[in-house]
Amino acid sequence: MKVISTIKELRAELSKERQEGKTIGLIPTMGYFHQGHLELMRRAREECAVVVVSLYVNPTQFAPSEDFESYPRDFERDKRLAENVGVDYLFCPSNAEMYLPNHLTYVEVEKITNKLCGASRPHHFKGVTTVVAKLFNIVKPDKAYFGQKDAQQVVVIRKMVEDLNFDLEIVVVPTAREEDGLAMSSRNTYLSAVEREEALVLSKSLQHAKELIDSGERIAQKIKEEMQKLIKSKPHVNLEYISICDHKTLEELSRIEGETLIALAAKAGKVRLIDNIVIRD
Ligand code: PAJ
Repeated sequence: MKVISTIKELRAELSKERQEGKTIGLIPTMGYFHQGHLELMRRAREECAVVVVSLYVNPTQFAPSEDFESYPRDFERDKRLAENVGVDYLFCPSNAEMYLPNHLTYVEVEKITNKLCGASRPHHFKGVTTVVAKLFNIVKPDKAYFGQKDAQQVVVIRKMVEDLNFDLEIVVVPTAREEDGLAMSSRNTYLSAVEREEALVLSKSLQHAKELIDSGERIAQKIKEEMQKLIKSKPHVNLEYISICDHKTLEELSRIEGETLIALAAKAGKVRLIDNIVIRD
């Protein structure tokens, strides 16, 4: 595995690979790898001749009050894990490499970025789409891999790809979970023992929603109320939102119909967690 920190060097390497007709897969990440990240890498390894992982904690997607400084980082461990999966290039640029001091250009997807997580993180997705667009232009991948864990991120990036005619395929990989069901996240490392235990209510509430739907419930409000009741029983978990929405437009639904996304965000102590399921009615 080659570790590369400049855009120039990565482009030179990848243009050689491309000339040999090799397909390139990109997995954008912010590091501190867990099984979720590794699943994306494994999938890319199966499908592409060349696998590029970017490891960059992107400052523009964090608000000043958020956890950019304290976001977990462990470069040596990440390097080892990526190498073990068979990644070819680990791209880890500095901030100076990614954002020139006079950087003025941002990519912003409208409307769908104001809902769900965007309601409490107003500039977050603008930072995500800007850095992902830059990575797409730097790597020019045939396929780019994203996790279903960040359901809104997938919807927003798909829209950007459609609207700006990026010539690549987005591959979405299912959410990797701990044995008890908690969705894996780099931020789980910051949960205290009691927060970790109570955070389980999030995936449990989604499972409960699925059971209600399987037993015939279709009214979104009723499902939300049942989920809220469960989550409120855990004093360390503060619910931010539950959304029952169309999985493409993210429009709230009053009835479960077709493909429905049930997504939520909550804080366990100070740690912000998200999870979701897709119901295929
Ligand atoms: P990060 O949180 O590091 O996630 C990198 C990729 O791993 C994303 O596509 C995310 O959805 C996926 N992922 C995270 N947890 C997962 C899980 N439990 N199961 C499956 N996939 C999971 O998302 C970002 O970084 C950034 O916003 C980024 C796209 C890199 C832009 O900076």
